[in-house]
Formats: sequence, C-alpha cells, structure tokens
Amino acid sequence: MSVELVPEDAGAVIPDWGPGAHVDLTVGDGSTRQYSLCGVPGASTWRIAVLRESAGRGGSAWVHDQLRPGHTVRLRGPRNHFALEPAPGYLFLAGGIGITPLLPMLAEAVRRDVAGQLHYFGRSRRQMAFLDQLTPYGDRVRVHPETDGPQPALRTLLVGLAPETLIYACGPAGMLDALRAAAAEAGCLDRLRTELFAAPVAAQPQPGGAFTVRLEQRGLELPVPADRSVLDVLLDAGVEIVNDCQEGICGSCETRVLAGAIDHRDHILTPQERSAGDCMMVCVSRAVGDRLVLDL
Ligand code: FES
Repeated sequence: MSVELVPEDAGAVIPDWGPGAHVDLTVGDGSTRQYSLCGVPGASTWRIAVLRESAGRGGSAWVHDQLRPGHTVRLRGPRNHFALEPAPGYLFLAGGIGITPLLPMLAEAVRRDVAGQLHYFGRSRRQMAFLDQLTPYGDRVRVHPETDGPQPALRTLLVGLAPETLIYACGPAGMLDALRAAAAEAGCLDRLRTELFAAPVAAQPQPGGAFTVRLEQRGLELPVPADRSVLDVLLDAGVEIVNDCQEGICGSCETRVLAGAIDHRDHILTPQERSAGDCMMVCVSRAVGDRLVLDL
C-alpha cells in the first residue's frame, strides 16, 4: 500500500529529503516504524509504501487495516543513513519491498546522467511493487521474479563492475548476507551500501560483558550490566536519547564516542564508519573493553 502524506497545516513546508531517507511513522499502539520515502524529493507530499507483514509486530497491519485517507498521523524525520553518495555509476539491488529507497535513487542517477542499473528480485510480478513506475527506465531495470525461472546469482552481477561504481542494496537479511559474501569475494565490499528493513533474527543483540560509560559533558559514570543496553542505562539516568527500533537498524540513537573500543552490533554503519570508532548505536552496541566515553 502506498501512502501519500501531506502536512496537517496546509501552509506548512515539509522538510526536504534526499534518496535513501526514511521517516518514523507512529502506528496505532503508539510505537514507531521506519519507512523509506519513495516519492520525488522536493514534491509537496511524502510517499511511503508499506508491505503487510503478517508475521510482523502489527504496524503494517495497522496501516493496511486502519489508516484511511484524511486520517492524521504523527511523523518524525526525515533522516538518512543510506544516502546516495556521488559516484560515476551505481548498481542498485532490491529485494521485495526493499525497492522503496532505491526508486528515488534510480531517478536521481538518471537526473545526474550517470550510469545506474537496477536489479529487482521478488517472488512474482504480482507481488512486486512499483513495476509500472519502472517500465519507463527500460534497460536500466531488470526484474527477476522467482516465477520467471532461476534468478541470476548475485556474484554474477558484481563481475566487471567499473572500479568506482557504488552498490546500493535493500532487501531481506538473507539476500544482504549473500551479497556481502559475494562482494567480499569480488573485492568490492568497500563499495557496498546496504539497508535492512528488519533486524535479522539470527543477529538479534546478545548480552555482552559489563562495562562503564562515562558521559563526558555531564561528568557522570554509569555502570552497564551485562544484561542491559547502554540505551536502557542512559534512559534510566534521565538522559534523553531519541530511539525507535532498538534493533540497530534505524540510526536514531546514534551517539558520539570520545574514547574506548566499540563492539558494533548495528546494521547501519559501514565498515569504514565502524573502524573510525567515533560513534555507536547505543541500543545494541557495547564496549569491547571495560569503558566507553560518550559525548553526552
Ligand atoms: S534505536 Fe534504532 S538504531 Fe538504535
């Protein structure tokens, strides 16, 4: 289901956004869900697309069953942890509803007049969103429904990529894991940018060892027990930290780290950002050693 969103105050200007951005939508039970903006940057409305997840937590079912034209919803954002970096060419790989952030990216590549190829994987054409909007792109788009026969192996799509081509992929965890392995084998892992739309079950945050966080601006030291997250400890101490997914996929709790080695457990930061060691998602990531110093 596509949802067009306009400001409640007709005169309000909605914030600008770029390809890869998402918004946080408050759903029926008051919790939030992240949805990629998949319309046209600069337009007077925002568009999101929501796949009904029958095994989900109820947010998508609420959108499908309860949200109707004229209703008012609360939104926060946009934020972007999947921004389209400048490059002479792009390879876009979408799995299922992972097409949503890649739609404006492909449009932007065309607008910039740079090479851009999209491969879109899905179960069947009937279940694949936005096929009609992809038709005008002609050869720039290849659609691979399972029902059409064997899908191309991801590694074959990485063969012969021009050296500075960036790879943007959004889809289920299994697809992205396979893609990371293929990119490592092909020597282009550093050019891969991914966005998950759900935390992989096998990689749900596990408890780690106990450590201490120092909040430099406040001059506070807080113990983080092995079975609690840094986020929980901060919230208990009255520190206001924006947080939504609590699974390391939305990026809202990103916090600057001034000292200490980080055990990154999120699904957002690139290998380069991880090795820089200057920020962490406090909902899931922890300390390698016994202390972290945060810019809070
Ligand atoms: S709350 Fe979403 S990454 Fe931490």
